[in-house]
Amino acid sequence: MGELQVLISQEQIHDCVREFALSIRKDYGEEPLLLVGVLKGSFHLISDLARELGGETTIDFIQVSSYGHEKSSSGIVQIRKDLDTNIEGKNVLIVEDIVDTGATLSHLRELLATRKPKSLRVVALLSKPQARKMNAAAEYVGFEIPDEFVVGYGLDYAERYRNLPYIAILREG
Ligand code: PRP
Repeated sequence: MGELQVLISQEQIHDCVREFALSIRKDYGEEPLLLVGVLKGSFHLISDLARELGGETTIDFIQVSSYGHEKSSSGIVQIRKDLDTNIEGKNVLIVEDIVDTGATLSHLRELLATRKPKSLRVVALLSKPQARKMNAAAEYVGFEIPDEFVVGYGLDYAERYRNLPYIAILREG
């Protein structure tokens, strides 16, 4: 059982999601938005963000498997579950819990861009700049965090801790 140290509180996350919604509405006005959640880690953020955004906001999910985590990053990313909807001509916002090496995001951006969305941007709650191996930046970033192992608010360790309402550093105990 590891030891958890709170890094970002529930209240900080809530404030951040409200700021995301304000910035996005400032940029897109009342245009319809399609949120694309990257499973599984984004499930809290996409749910909270969709409620803050209101308006004509639709939701779809994609799941990729990255082989860059256990071993050193190979940058190989495969689609495990594709979108159900056609994104052509839509304002697409990729919703991510964290940008780590950047492999997932750079691949997803490239893939989704080929499907001719009207616009394509990324919302990421967390970013670990020190871990970056691929060129991948999100337009809307909540918190830049140190290169520590974090869990909670969707992020797991062996499928545990996704249900925590805050982000914590997990240290082996
Ligand atoms: C995590 C996270 C991002 C990705 C970021 O997902 O949710 O999608 O890794 O890492 P990268 O920048 O190095 O590509 P993971 O593959 O652990 O799947 P999960 O969301 O189902 O836990």
